[in-house]
Amino acid sequence: MPHYHRLGTLPRKHHLRFPRDPAASHLGEGLHYEHVITTEGFDRAYAIVYHLKPPTRVKRVERYREFRLTAAGPTPLRHHHLKSAGLARAGDPYTGRVPLMFNADIGCYRCRPATAMAADYDFYRNGRSDDVIFVWSGGGWLESQYGRLRYRQDDYLVIPRGTIYRLVPDDIAREDYLILESTHPVRIPARYLHAEGQIRLGAPYSERDFHGPTETLVVDREGDFAVLTKDGGRYTRNILASHPHDVVGWDGYLYPFTFNANDFEPITGTVHLPPPIHQTFEINGFVICTFAPRYLDHHPDAIKVPWAHDNTEADEVLFYVRGQFGSRKGVEPGSFTLHPQGIPHGPHPGTTVKSFGHTRTEELAVMFDTQYPLELTEPALAMDDPAYPLSWLD
Ligand SMILES: [Fe+2]
Repeated sequence: MPHYHRLGTLPRKHHLRFPRDPAASHLGEGLHYEHVITTEGFDRAYAIVYHLKPPTRVKRVERYREFRLTAAGPTPLRHHHLKSAGLARAGDPYTGRVPLMFNADIGCYRCRPATAMAADYDFYRNGRSDDVIFVWSGGGWLESQYGRLRYRQDDYLVIPRGTIYRLVPDDIAREDYLILESTHPVRIPARYLHAEGQIRLGAPYSERDFHGPTETLVVDREGDFAVLTKDGGRYTRNILASHPHDVVGWDGYLYPFTFNANDFEPITGTVHLPPPIHQTFEINGFVICTFAPRYLDHHPDAIKVPWAHDNTEADEVLFYVRGQFGSRKGVEPGSFTLHPQGIPHGPHPGTTVKSFGHTRTEELAVMFDTQYPLELTEPALAMDDPAYPLSWLD
């Protein structure tokens, strides 16, 4: 919810008659259909969209599949290094998501789709979670009832729950995502906003760095339109009687948007500053941070890698996008490290002294820190380096 956005044609006020063009085909009752969309009740962010047909015209409802997240067998409390770059391409961007770790607030998936969409549905909707798709590689268009939105490499593509969408990649062979399914809405941190709700001067980004849909999609078509709806572990196929992307206009604070990791303005100091300076999004139960290319701490005696620290309050996960990560040895693009709460972690041997001569880092990484412990899945353990917990020995 970066800021107020409007697109297309709207009536002058909420909840007034909004007649359709009398020359239009399938005129129906001669009105547009107002649709209020919220994700946290009527007191919080909302959008109002205006359809050609009511969004409630369902022809059939079919059970599609069950896919519950399950934890791998008991593992000791230890650090993990998962190498995901070589994951085989499979499935589509919706059911081809490979779960790696989860708790009640977040599901973390890698997805290297082989096809743009399976044959037995036309659209996807996550009915219970917001999708945060970090585009590790690829680009294309997101199509939804809010219109068309361009996405590109290194974008966080944030899609509120309930959005009926599909990705239209430029080249499916290049698509590669980190996907975080969030039980709670994805927000700009409150400390970045001033009392009027604008992003403060001095925050690591501004409203100009957030991009909403740029053109409406107004498809006036009757037929059978299959929407695969996920809610938790249950997938349902809803066959709608008209094309869901029939919105002539909308406005509000709730819509899919992109924020590119390279637009994050890093904040640095003379000595090392803690991870909150990298915070990008605020969510109940976890935060998302961006480690963007930046100048390093510039005190002449500065140690330019973090301290060892006890993260007793959070599970820390880093996804290494590209570049050399100064405090780590052995990680590669596509690696995850999970440093769980309760035990300390810190720079690898040799990286502290090596950092003295560095003035910049070109690393790019996405971090999410969770309040409650994460469970690892079987696919995650299949990528796990069992030697990693011992990698701090000289
Ligand atoms: Fe850490």
